[in-house]
Amino acid sequence: MSPRSVKVNSWNGWDPLRHVMVGRADGTMVQAPEPAVRRDFPDDGFPLGAYGRIPDEMTAAANEQLDGFAALLEGRGIRVERPEPIDFSQRVGTPEWTHNSMFGCMPPRDVLITVGNEMLEATMSYRSRWFEYLCYRPVLQKLFEADPDARWEAAPKPRLTDASYNTGFWDTYNQLPLEEKLDRVRRNDLALTEAEPLFDAADIARCGKDLFVQLSLVTNRSGADWLRRHFPDHRVHPVSFTNTHPLHIDATWVPLRPGLVLHNGERPAEPELTEYFKVNDWEVLEAVQPESWHHEARLSFCSPWLSVNMLSLDENTLCIEEREVRLADQLTAYGFEMIPVPFRAAAPFGGGLHCATWDIEREGTLQDYFP
Ligand code: ARG
Repeated sequence: MSPRSVKVNSWNGWDPLRHVMVGRADGTMVQAPEPAVRRDFPDDGFPLGAYGRIPDEMTAAANEQLDGFAALLEGRGIRVERPEPIDFSQRVGTPEWTHNSMFGCMPPRDVLITVGNEMLEATMSYRSRWFEYLCYRPVLQKLFEADPDARWEAAPKPRLTDASYNTGFWDTYNQLPLEEKLDRVRRNDLALTEAEPLFDAADIARCGKDLFVQLSLVTNRSGADWLRRHFPDHRVHPVSFTNTHPLHIDATWVPLRPGLVLHNGERPAEPELTEYFKVNDWEVLEAVQPESWHHEARLSFCSPWLSVNMLSLDENTLCIEEREVRLADQLTAYGFEMIPVPFRAAAPFGGGLHCATWDIEREGTLQDYFP
């Protein structure tokens, strides 16, 4: 990297993309159970309590698609960085806890966010993802050296003791009636307590001066409040949706360009959020139903709504999973050029085209889209 050409800068998810990270699937684990998350895939060889490496052939298939996506971006003149996987099967710990496994480094979006010239590492809230930042550090270090104006921050490393979790949450939550679940979601009374600030970067949607932060299974009020204080020149909005398993905002509420947000209608937004967009002349577009998945959902903890988890190359161009033909048609009618990308094999490793990336540079400046 020549020092001149590198610039950390991104204020939203749609300005022209110049530099991006694409994750890697190597060594990803079905992680060991912990207070905040439990995997249970009895039909796929990982019943509750079992953990271990995702089968090699699945990892190879995901890496092939991730490498292909990286090559596609490079072919369009976009600079691409890759993380450095470590041994995710190792036992990890701090002086206060130990855990039997890590997870992986496919979805850098969950851990990293760029706001202007700042690269921020999220706290994360799973013990299995506490050390994931190590995979991204070589790139962060390189960017820090290459761009003298780049700012590099890490949110307070969380303690993640038992006090940070509603212990027993997963023993009871899934048995609750729907209304009770939704009530818990509205109150954000879920897996996390408010013992310390916790957030995943992928719960944040960036629209220039406005940052929308989803309260979720991995982001608490204190985390949103930390972000509000950390970005005093932004309007930070904690938001929630009618979704029993809220986890990362980028399959639910997806700003595509100034004036247009794509919404997953199965997860209605709070009226205040919709109103905030509408009074500012944004159209809230309900996405068409995703295509079906069948067997490809093996070991995946994501929903078919990964359909809307697209990567914008600029405000007229979107990378979309190749099977999502109906959504592609819907957005073509809205004037977008749609670039189909095979990406389903990556889902068990943490998500779609948006999750799998982290914006390092997009042209453009800070704008107020909600004046
Ligand atoms: N929880 C979302 C869903 O299944 C998937 C979002 C994944 N996003 C991410 N950044 N890893 O609908």
